[in-house]
Amino acid sequence: MEIYKFAQETILEAGKFIRQRMTEEFNINSKQNPNDLVTDVDKETENFLNNRIEERYPEHRILGEEGHGRDITDTRGVIWIVDPIDGTLNFVHQMENFAISVGIYIDGNPYAGLILDVMKGDLYHAAFEHGAYKNDQLLPDIKETNLATSLISTNSNWVIRDGINMPFIEVVRNARSTRSLGSAALEFVNVARGTSSAALFYRLHPWDFAGGIIILEEVGGITTTLLGDDIRLLDTNSIIASNKTIHGEIIEHFKKDGPFIENHKKFHRL
Ligand code: IPD
Ligand code: CA
Ligand code: CA
Repeated sequence: MEIYKFAQETILEAGKFIRQRMTEEFNINSKQNPNDLVTDVDKETENFLNNRIEERYPEHRILGEEGHGRDITDTRGVIWIVDPIDGTLNFVHQMENFAISVGIYIDGNPYAGLILDVMKGDLYHAAFEHGAYKNDQLLPDIKETNLATSLISTNSNWVIRDGINMPFIEVVRNARSTRSLGSAALEFVNVARGTSSAALFYRLHPWDFAGGIIILEEVGGITTTLLGDDIRLLDTNSIIASNKTIHGEIIEHFKKDGPFIENHKKFHRL
């Protein structure tokens, strides 16, 4: 549990670093498209995390959104999968509702997941088979729910995208209502806390889901692709993170739609 404890201390320090850095000016740039933003703070926070981990555990590897570990193609040893700011658009526009996400895997197996809601200061964390916590409070197992009485978290981009949207539309139609927070990591946390019953994404990167999967599993939840397949840890995946009952109900909508399955296969190069 030494790595787990170190990870908790380190993510809290990185949160302090971000809050302090927000009091100063920083640059905002766009990546491939104008809505995909990155700031100096994203890069500096990833460097901060990388330096701390490297100093303490030189043999560990780090895969981060802002560039660390691009050469990682296998899961051997200890890998930290890091998103220094998940919810950069919220960081820029709202100055809240963003997180640091860390997933630690040993030989491809879950070891620990940590998600810090940076502005609230709440740390969600779990070590494999040791339960999940909000700060020092154990989270209870999530409840099983049905779509008709559930809040579902998804992004409207997928609901308006031709070729893949039919199952999303059906799920939205059949759910009690939908919410979109804008931080995948915090959407995992909401499922783990039971404030939403499922979170659906057409595409997430490893750093978006690596921490959340472990936390959710510890409260009895499940994460698969939208077609119910296992997640490939080092690739982009479609994702459903949910309780086990609603999981079955939702993936039925995706599994029966021919165009969705075809386009999903091409998009994720399966
Ligand atoms: C994004 C957020 C967002 C999700 C996107 C992610 P970023 O992460 O998690 O909620 O819908 O797919 O890329 O870019 O803010 O780290
Ligand atoms: Ca992210
Ligand atoms: Ca990010």
